[in-house]
Amino acid sequence: MKYITIALAKGRLAKKTLAMFEQIGITCEEMKDETSRKLIFVNEELGLRFFLAKANDVPTYVEYGAADIGIVGKDTILEEGRKLYEVLDLGIGKCKMCVCGPESSRELLQHHELIRVATKYPNIAKDYFYNVKHQTVEIIKLNGSIELAPIVGLSEVIVDIVETGATLRENGLTVLEEIVPLSARMVVNQVSMKMESDRIGKIIEDIRKYLAGGK
Ligand code: PRP
Repeated sequence: MKYITIALAKGRLAKKTLAMFEQIGITCEEMKDETSRKLIFVNEELGLRFFLAKANDVPTYVEYGAADIGIVGKDTILEEGRKLYEVLDLGIGKCKMCVCGPESSRELLQHHELIRVATKYPNIAKDYFYNVKHQTVEIIKLNGSIELAPIVGLSEVIVDIVETGATLRENGLTVLEEIVPLSARMVVNQVSMKMESDRIGKIIEDIRKYLAGGK
């Protein structure tokens, strides 16, 4: 039997996802060992393989069929724009993609001024400013701690994820506009969906039932 390969985004999401899989009888004990440097984990009995990857790479593995299934945030799916099927909203890792900045930047968004926008998500930011707001902006790609940008004068605003809002509050920033709600999604390779429709369909159905049952 061919393995069904599942790619999980490293970090907070992975733990919650594994807990969810456990609830539907899919376990991978080996994967819980946080000291392990192993990259891929096999459950021979179920014919499943799991691997952890950088979130941004999960849609790539799934599009190319190196993973049949991926679990990754909607932010990454939107940013990467890969060809895949998004089959389930897992309802975990809920947060929002927002335009944030100091209160003083609010009016710059209203008057369509040419401002600088720092973000880890240049495609989402471009789409929002160019296609939704019709505002010409300069996008500056950063790789983390995006909230720093308006504080040190790199940009007027940022496009970033807001979960609790604590990072913004502690740095004197605020949500100026909401772009899109986010959460973890299950994505499936388009060919695998046809070739392995029974096995993949069962996993989707089991998780769907589990989610419907109120967790
Ligand atoms: C994310 C995001 C914000 C923060 C939001 O950063 O980029 O900085 O979490 O969470 P909060 O609203 O609960 O404060 P992450 O911790 O992933 O690190 P990064 O800044 O290096 O991207």
